[in-house]
Parts: sequence; structure tokens; C-alpha cells
Amino acid sequence: VSHSVAKHLRIEIDSYDHTIRTFIGGYDEMLDQVVAAVRASRESGHVIELGAGTGALSARLLEALPGVTVELWDVDPEMMGKAAERLLPFGDRARFVERSFFEALPPADAIVASLALHHVRTLADKVGLYRAIGDALRPGGVFVNADITIPDDPALGRASYRAWAAHLVESGIAPARAWEHFAEWSLEDRYFSLDDELGAIESAGLLATCPWRRDPATVTVGTRR
Ligand SMILES: C[S@@+](CC[C@H](N)C(=O)[O-])C[C@H]1O[C@@H](n2cnc3c(N)ncnc32)[C@H](O)[C@@H]1O
Repeated sequence: VSHSVAKHLRIEIDSYDHTIRTFIGGYDEMLDQVVAAVRASRESGHVIELGAGTGALSARLLEALPGVTVELWDVDPEMMGKAAERLLPFGDRARFVERSFFEALPPADAIVASLALHHVRTLADKVGLYRAIGDALRPGGVFVNADITIPDDPALGRASYRAWAAHLVESGIAPARAWEHFAEWSLEDRYFSLDDELGAIESAGLLATCPWRRDPATVTVGTRR
């Protein structure tokens, strides 16, 4: 990339990094929890990040765990370009793969995702994906997923959305706009309950746990026995 393109990408990365924090309360803590779960399983090895976007999670993993290599998968070449710019300092410890997470996965020591698997719209497709992830993991490996979970119970679901809206409003977004965001996101994104997420992980033959939740942001872990 030329210098001006690199500068432009940097500005876009900074802007994405800012915006995502206005949308997701506890974003930094959430990514740190993903890193902690990977570290608890492995200090080195090969990690695949699904739907890596601009590479914020991979950057943290590469920084915190000098023994790991990371393969970033995304279908959006623009996002990959931004991730490549961000991860330049890590050289060949980071690899970029323009591919859907529904494609065949190679063997890995850990598979991680942040705010990406809500693009899977049905629970059956989720279970299928988690099975493929479980099959790709080496024994003892972990699948760590950071995403939004919303309870099925209508009253609890509304409470989760209210907690979420409160974060957007605290970040300076007008209340009406916050609810508009949720309506827009629901056209593409699908949030399942924590119970459904843990159930899907168990159906994939993995041991399921939830080490962290800040309503509605959630980290779940599936460990290959
Ligand atoms: C909201 S962004 C999250 C990015 C990043 N992981 C983060 O936490 O900031 C979701 C990403 O998932 C990617 N994505 C959506 N569907 C995908 C698929 N089927 N395979 C791979 N990536 C996908 C999008 O291109 C986008 O970069």
C-alpha cells in the first residue's frame, strides 16, 4: 500500500475502533476475555479468527501471545485491507484469507470470533458451523466467541435491549437513534439466547462455558475434549 492509502486506512481503522466502542459496552474487556480464554488453553499454536473485520481481536492475540500465529478470515476485501494495515508490525505471524467461515476449516489450536457469528441466521446453521469448528480444533483446543446474546423470554429480552440502549445513549447517541440502530441491525444480524449458544456448542461435541457477560455482550467458550 502506498503511504496515502495506508494513512487513509489508518483513519478508517481509528474511526471503526471508535464507533464499535459506542455500540458495544465493555468491548475492550470482551476482547481481553477472548484472549484470556485462548491463553488458558494454549500459549502458542495456530489461531483462526472468523469474520476478523479490521483485525482488532487478532492484534490483541498477537500482542499478548508471542507464540501464536493467526489466520484472519473475512469475506470483505476492504476489511481485510484494513486488518492487513493494522497487523503489519506482526509480519508473517498474521495471514489473511478472503473466505467465508462456511468454507472448510483447516486444523487449528483455537478458533475465535468477535461480533461476526451473528451473521449466521438460523440455529441449525449455527450448530452446523460449530460442528465444523469442533472438527477443525485439535484436542484441548478452544472455540471462543464474543457476541451479543438476547434472552428468548420477552421481558428479559426487552431488559437486554434497554441495557444495550443505555450504553449507546451514554456514548452520545440519541435514544431514538439507538433503537433505530437495533432495527437496522436486525435486518442482517441474528442474536440467539445464551442458552441456545451454549446448546449449539454442546451439540458440536464441545464442552460449553460462559466466562463473561456484560448484558448483552457475551463470551462463550467451547473446549474440544
Ligand atoms: C461487525 S464486523 C466484526 C469485526 C471484528 N471481528 C470486530 O470485532 O470488530 C463482522 C465481520 O464479519 C464479516 N463476515 C460476515 N459474514 C461472513 C462470512 N460468511 N464469512 C466471513 N466473514 C464474514 C464481515 O465482513 C465483517 O467484517
